[in-house]
Amino acid sequence: MSAKSQQASKSSGSVTLTDPSSGQALELPVLSGTLGPSVVDIRALYSGSGYFTYDPGYTSTGACESKITFIDGEKGILLHRGYPIGELAEQSDFLEVAYLLLRGELPNETEAKDFVDTITRHTMVHEQINYLYRGFRRDAHPMAVMIGVVGALAAFYHDATDIGDSTHRMIASHRLIAKMPTIAAMAYKYAVGQPFVYPRNDLTYTENFLHMLFAVPCEEYKINPVQARAMDRILILHADHEQNASTSTVRLAGSSGANPYACIAAGIATLWGPAHGGANEAVVRMLEEIPTVEQIPEYIARAKDKNDPFRLMGFGHRVYKNYDPRATVLRETCSEVLDDFGIDDDKLKIAVELEKIALNDEYFIERKLYPNVDFYSGLILKALGIPPELFTVIFALARTVGWVAQWNEMIEDPSQKIGRPRQLYTGAAERSFIPLADRG
Ligand code: CMC
Repeated sequence: MSAKSQQASKSSGSVTLTDPSSGQALELPVLSGTLGPSVVDIRALYSGSGYFTYDPGYTSTGACESKITFIDGEKGILLHRGYPIGELAEQSDFLEVAYLLLRGELPNETEAKDFVDTITRHTMVHEQINYLYRGFRRDAHPMAVMIGVVGALAAFYHDATDIGDSTHRMIASHRLIAKMPTIAAMAYKYAVGQPFVYPRNDLTYTENFLHMLFAVPCEEYKINPVQARAMDRILILHADHEQNASTSTVRLAGSSGANPYACIAAGIATLWGPAHGGANEAVVRMLEEIPTVEQIPEYIARAKDKNDPFRLMGFGHRVYKNYDPRATVLRETCSEVLDDFGIDDDKLKIAVELEKIALNDEYFIERKLYPNVDFYSGLILKALGIPPELFTVIFALARTVGWVAQWNEMIEDPSQKIGRPRQLYTGAAERSFIPLADRG
């Protein structure tokens, strides 16, 4: 069974490109979506003109049509299937958002119950996976472990990986969403030398994750509802973010027909970078490096100095040139958590002061560098007692939902082709091989 959905973009005129050397004109169609800028359809550019486009970092390039997430970076808007992120964070929960991203609509009561049941009943991992962890050093970065273990799921769950079959795709998607908290918590337990904690079906998705992270067999672990709510919000706010680097990686890997677990492992690898998901860990490391509030100006000066590689982590975004709407929600959650936990931490004071100074500094104002989601998620996770090296793992857990939704959408897209960018070659022109003895 192969479900190919209909494309929904509309034709809205054309642009004409004139080659200055030949005077030849090429008309290129313009396509419009529901929201956001229209796009010039350049699929016929090379065959019609002999030119490629050049866009390192894809700053002006749309690589797919999507119905999942919309971002207006200038206005600071983020919508999932049309619903504003703030409303979802306030009124929904992570699994409901997962359903929305994956299926396109909010579930009714029966659909919500069935989905929660399905995810809850897939949370255990194959017992043999326990032994896989033992092959890693205890001091390995948990993201390295995640890449290995999630990639290895392809070796454990090969009963439903016909990616042309929508039922198989949904089984793989459910398994990934369900098992990520278990795999992430196991990576943590392995690092700290504690026994793995099995999932519990009487807990919610987020409570179960916290339980698997923090419970130990020798005493009862009580879940703090403020902690669970804050974690659930962090998961909602990281669930999807349009065609970012890791999602584009998952789509590109998946475009070759690769195994779904291998595609998600590729997404995790991309997310690990400090310019992407690794930023929340980098925020806390940066705060640890700044000794006192009085020394903040020194670090602001370093961030502005082009000869210094130091950047203010948690500030700036490729797409948002306004306040990151996810940061707005988390800023509030951050103060709730700090109040509830009665935390009066020096590093948190530095963070608050840093934010204040950066928001009033001409360099940051001119470049529209606002705090992003990672600035606050790093602070909240620190306050929840989560070690910094686990921050990006939690991001990966949440983003798995977006990755599988986008992967499914890509496979259902009738215009989907294997991803294969072109290049502007600037290397040596053709030359003859020189035998070793003749080389000077
Ligand atoms: N500190 C100091 N200067 C900065 C920063 C920063 N955090 N971010 C950007 N700039 C400067 C940059 O030097 C450049 O200056 P100029 O115009 O004088 O050359 C200007 O602002 C534009 O920056 P850019 O590097 O061209 O922007 P980009 O779109 O390529 O990079 C970014 C976006 C997120 C990689 C970058 O802002 C950054 O490295 N931020 C810190 C890391 C971070 O917090 N990343 C998390 C992103 S949010 C999570 C996610 O969605 O994955």
